[in-house]
Amino acid sequence: MTTPPFRTLDDLDVDNRRVLVRVDFNVPLTKGEHRTVRDDTRIRETLPTLRLLRERGAKLVVCSHLGRPAGTGFEAAFSMEPVGARLAELLDVEVKLADEVVGDGVTKLVADARAGEVVLLENLRFEKGETKNDAKFSAALAALCDAYVNDAFGACHRAHASVVGVPALVGEKAAGRLLEAELRALSRLVTAPERPFVAIVGGAKVSDKLGVLVALVERLIAGDTLVIGGAMANTFLAAQGRGLGASLMEGDRFKDAERVMAKAAARDVEVILPTDLRVGRGIEASEARVVGVAYDLDPQEMALDIGPASAERCAEAIARAGMVLWNGPMGLFENPAFAGGTLAVAHAVAQSPGFTVVGGGDSVAAVAQAGVADRIDHVSTGGGASLEYIEGKTLPGVAALAQDQARPLSSEEG
Ligand code: 3PG
Repeated sequence: MTTPPFRTLDDLDVDNRRVLVRVDFNVPLTKGEHRTVRDDTRIRETLPTLRLLRERGAKLVVCSHLGRPAGTGFEAAFSMEPVGARLAELLDVEVKLADEVVGDGVTKLVADARAGEVVLLENLRFEKGETKNDAKFSAALAALCDAYVNDAFGACHRAHASVVGVPALVGEKAAGRLLEAELRALSRLVTAPERPFVAIVGGAKVSDKLGVLVALVERLIAGDTLVIGGAMANTFLAAQGRGLGASLMEGDRFKDAERVMAKAAARDVEVILPTDLRVGRGIEASEARVVGVAYDLDPQEMALDIGPASAERCAEAIARAGMVLWNGPMGLFENPAFAGGTLAVAHAVAQSPGFTVVGGGDSVAAVAQAGVADRIDHVSTGGGASLEYIEGKTLPGVAALAQDQARPLSSEEG
C-alpha cells in the first residue's frame, strides 16, 4: 500500500493566517463534577505541530471530537472545557474556548484572534453535520480558515466533515507532524517489514480484529510469528476443542479462527497461541490459578490472562524480532491478578532489538503501566485508524489531503 502524496507543515505559508487544525483530542476524562484529562498523551503528541504553527505566526483554530455525544447540541459531559484547560497548561498560553462549534460567536472569536493565539472550538460532534459529513457544516468550518492542517491520525478512518469535508473545500492543506510520524512508522510495517516480523494481536474479540489478523497473516512469511492472546485466543482454543468454562469467546467465529490458522500454516508462519492460562472465578477474582490449556476449566472459571510459559514463549520470539507490532492486551490487565501476561509482553517489546510499534488504547495503556513507553519506537495514538491502516485500507482523512505536486511521504524519509 502506498501513502498518497500530501503537503506537510513546511509547505504552508501560515504567517498571520487562520489555520484550522483538526486534532484527535478524544481523551479519557476523570469522572465526577469537575472533570479533568486522565491521559493527555493525544494532546502532548500534537504539541510539535501546534508550537510550530504558533512560532510561524498562525492564528490557530483547533478542533476535535470528544466521545460520542448525541449530535443535538451542547452536552456538558462532552464539553472540550477540560481538554482546553490541559492544552493551555501544556502550551503555556491562553486557549480561548468557543461556546459553540460554528456560528457568529466563533466567527468573531476567530476574526479577532492575533498571530500566535489559540482558539479551541467546542466538540465537533455537538453538530450532527460532523459525522454525516454534511456539506453545509463543512462549509461553515472551512469559512473559519485560510489553511487546514490534519494532525488527527486517530480520526483519519472517519469520513467526517472535519476530516474529509473541510479539506475538500480548502486549497491549502497539509499533514501535521503527528500524522506524518504515524504514517512513517506504520508504512514501514506495511511496506517494508524487517524480518523476522512478530505481530502480537490481543484484545477481546476475533470479530473486531479479523480483518487485521487476515491482512497480517497474508503479509507474514516463513520465519515470522503471529502471537494471539487475550480473550481472542479463547476463541481459537475453543475452536480446537478446548473446554474453556465461562471464558469470554465467540462461538460463531470458530470458522474464522480456523481460516487464520490454515492461512498461517500454508505460509509456514508460526502461530503462538497460549499453552497455559491464568484463570479465575469471574473478572473480579483476586487470585489467578495457572493451568495448562489441556485442562478443562470448571463451568464458573474464566481464562483471564496468558500463563507464564506462554509469556516466555512470546518473549523469546520478540527477542529475535526485526520488527514487532503489538495491538491488544494479553488479558484483563486492569486486574493485577491477570496483568502478568500483558506486562511481560510490554517488557519484552521494550527490550526487543527490532523496530517496535504499539497501537490500540489498551496496549498503549499497558506499556505506560509497565513504565516502558519511552522504550517503544512508535506508540500510535490511533486505535481503529492504525488497525485499518495495517489492514491495507486507505484512510479517508489521509486521502483527503492528497494534492497534485505534493511530495510523497515514504518510510525512507524518516
Ligand atoms: C478513537 O478514539 O479511536 C478516535 O478518536 C475515533 O473515535 P470514534 O471511534 O468515536 O470515531
